[in-house]
Amino acid sequence: MIRLLFIGDVVGRSGRAVVLEQVPLLRDRWELDFVVVNGENAAGGFGLTETIFEDFISCGVDAVTLGNHAFDQREALVFIERQPRLIRPANFPPGTPGRGAAMIESEGGARLLIVNVMGRIFMEALDDPFATVKRELRAWPLREACDASLVDFHAEASSEKWAFGHFVDGKASLVVGTHTHTPSADHRILAGGTGFISDVGMTGDYDSVIGMEKDEPLRRFTLRIPSGRLEPAGGPATLCAIAAEIGPDGLTKAIAPVRIGGVLSPAKPDFWA
Ligand SMILES: [Fe+2]
Ligand SMILES: [Fe+2]
Repeated sequence: MIRLLFIGDVVGRSGRAVVLEQVPLLRDRWELDFVVVNGENAAGGFGLTETIFEDFISCGVDAVTLGNHAFDQREALVFIERQPRLIRPANFPPGTPGRGAAMIESEGGARLLIVNVMGRIFMEALDDPFATVKRELRAWPLREACDASLVDFHAEASSEKWAFGHFVDGKASLVVGTHTHTPSADHRILAGGTGFISDVGMTGDYDSVIGMEKDEPLRRFTLRIPSGRLEPAGGPATLCAIAAEIGPDGLTKAIAPVRIGGVLSPAKPDFWA
């Protein structure tokens, strides 16, 4: 059995703090094989710096995925090339620095394929995420080239995420939706054995507007006049994650949401008591 924890979009300093505090504890307590984090909002809400990336890796994170904010910090265009555990959307245009998929190995020797991809509904125009992931999964087939595979489907529309889950059902171990910053209650195992949730939710302060201080978004919604910068909310963060246990056949046997700290109601898997 492979035990995997995927942590949703980490927003700003308070999001980072709960990750740095909880990942070492949870790794140990739940005997996790893999911890993967979406880090697209880790640096002040916009992108990721190399220092933050390295802090994540040092605290026990195995790999970091991204999204539409991948290159908001310009330095990411450079350091992504020397960080094989940093993964940006696979359907960015050819020539974009970095990689859209990576294979990592656990201490016990299990191989996990991680693919990051972006949806296209209400988002920027990119290559077809369905065809892109199909190609990646064919190149690294489950049970042959890897023991487990995880797709971080970074998208706005639930419909696109559900459709994608069914599209790879039985061919990927786990599909986790990211980007909306709001956890959904639809985690489940699909008919073919793929674990699925349409959105893991963010790891940040929920007394906010999707992780940002409330005042500026409220001004923009009510007056249509931007008058300041969007800043991450600084109150205690909720760590939002999905816990999954993957069997020897590469399919998910158990899946549960994780919520720790902050203003959301707590949740943890009962299968790792
Ligand atoms: Fe995000
Ligand atoms: Fe995003």
